[in-house]
Amino acid sequence: MSKSKVVFICNSCGFHSPKWEGKCPQCETWNSLEETQVFKENKSQSARSAIIHKEDKLVPNKAILISDVQTGKTSRIPIFDPELSRVLGGGIVAGSVILVGGQPGIGKSTLLLQLALQNKFKIFYVSGEESEEQIKLRADRIKAESDKCYLYTNVNTDQILSQARKINPTVMIIDSIQTLTSPLVDSIPGTISQIRECAYELQRFAKESGICVFIIGHITKDGNIAGPKILEHIVDTVLQFEGDQNHMFRVLRTTKNRFGSTDEIGIYEMGTAGLIPVTNPSELFLRQGDSVLSGSAIAATIEGLRPLLIEVQALVSTAIYGTPQRSATGYDLRRMAMLLAVLEKRCGFAFGHNDVFLNLAGGIKINDPSIDLSIVAALISSLEDTTIEDGICFCGEVGLSGEIRSVNRLEQRIQEADRMGFKEMYVSKFNIKGIPFEKYNINITPIGKVEDLYELLFANV
Ligand code: TYD
Ligand code: MG
Repeated sequence: MSKSKVVFICNSCGFHSPKWEGKCPQCETWNSLEETQVFKENKSQSARSAIIHKEDKLVPNKAILISDVQTGKTSRIPIFDPELSRVLGGGIVAGSVILVGGQPGIGKSTLLLQLALQNKFKIFYVSGEESEEQIKLRADRIKAESDKCYLYTNVNTDQILSQARKINPTVMIIDSIQTLTSPLVDSIPGTISQIRECAYELQRFAKESGICVFIIGHITKDGNIAGPKILEHIVDTVLQFEGDQNHMFRVLRTTKNRFGSTDEIGIYEMGTAGLIPVTNPSELFLRQGDSVLSGSAIAATIEGLRPLLIEVQALVSTAIYGTPQRSATGYDLRRMAMLLAVLEKRCGFAFGHNDVFLNLAGGIKINDPSIDLSIVAALISSLEDTTIEDGICFCGEVGLSGEIRSVNRLEQRIQEADRMGFKEMYVSKFNIKGIPFEKYNINITPIGKVEDLYELLFANV
């Protein structure tokens, strides 16, 4: 009979403590120690030391010179899905471990089932959350078929890995890490010690077998991947699947990638037959409607490495109640307050007694400060009730004194606006050095201050 004892484990760095503490002594995170029951009969330690001894024999115990290291061994396997492939840095790397995090219902299982069905190599899909029938129903919706996709509904890592050795697939998918249990740890699934042990086992398996392992992970309310932070250190790549449940588009972002850049994003649209890669994202976020209305402006922004044109909508109306309301969807509310203060103080627009609502069309969230100029244009347009002509877009950061500041990768943005058929783009006058304007059909108007924007767009109307 094994004896149990209680320890407190930090879910940020994995520190063990015999008593609860408010702050982890090792990584100094507050409120991160979690009560965990461990069993004293050290099955896990003896089993693990056996593995370590075995590994010691496999790994040569000698340091080598960096110049002697052979490169070019990482072989990438091309995949069908262009968006996923780009986000991973161009196909999947054998023996790598990829963690996919995202809110429930965002489409993680759909994304990886599509990977399983659309490719010609052997895939082992393990689900601890759904039955074979449920997975098959989803596969029918996706309308893709594969005769090399093996399903397995189990949560025990020993049995999963022994099946995986028998099948020997190219890719193994685990849905999800929170449901797995390792027989080496005696606590319930989803606890820190279980998640950590299972992740270690999967990582060890991936490295020794050369099989690429995708792991689905749930996220907590504040958007972090549930479980210990070290989970993110164990894996090679972390992908975040984001989007608004009420909108159809989804964004796949890399937050860590040992085999590629973290700047790439993948954009999908959730349809009735699964996730469809969006090859022309600007079309998705541009104006939907025939007539131009006041309060609408187009921003030339960049998400990751991809230029994107999106519609910014503002509504300024007289406040009915004493305190005017301010609300922003997809944009930082405090930054909107700052822009309103700049317009009020530097340019004399009276927003003080108005309700102000701001919305980025399509439900996208943007942190890129270059959309400031389009927001300012949309706000003035709504306040003055004057429309901005069709075919005009904006790109520039607005400073506290109302100056228009330069932005990065301007040429890429100009290229995209030109490609989408825009005829005029307002940019910062500090930004235009060295840009070959004659190459493009679009007319570039450099401006220095918010007042210039007003003069050019609204003053003569
Ligand atoms: P799912 O992949 O199960 O999400 P997760 O694994 O992240 O929890 O699917 C999410 C949602 O997508 C689900 O509510 C149904 C919807 N969906 C579609 O709209 N179209 C489809 O073709 C599929 C397969 C799912
Ligand atoms: Mg799922």
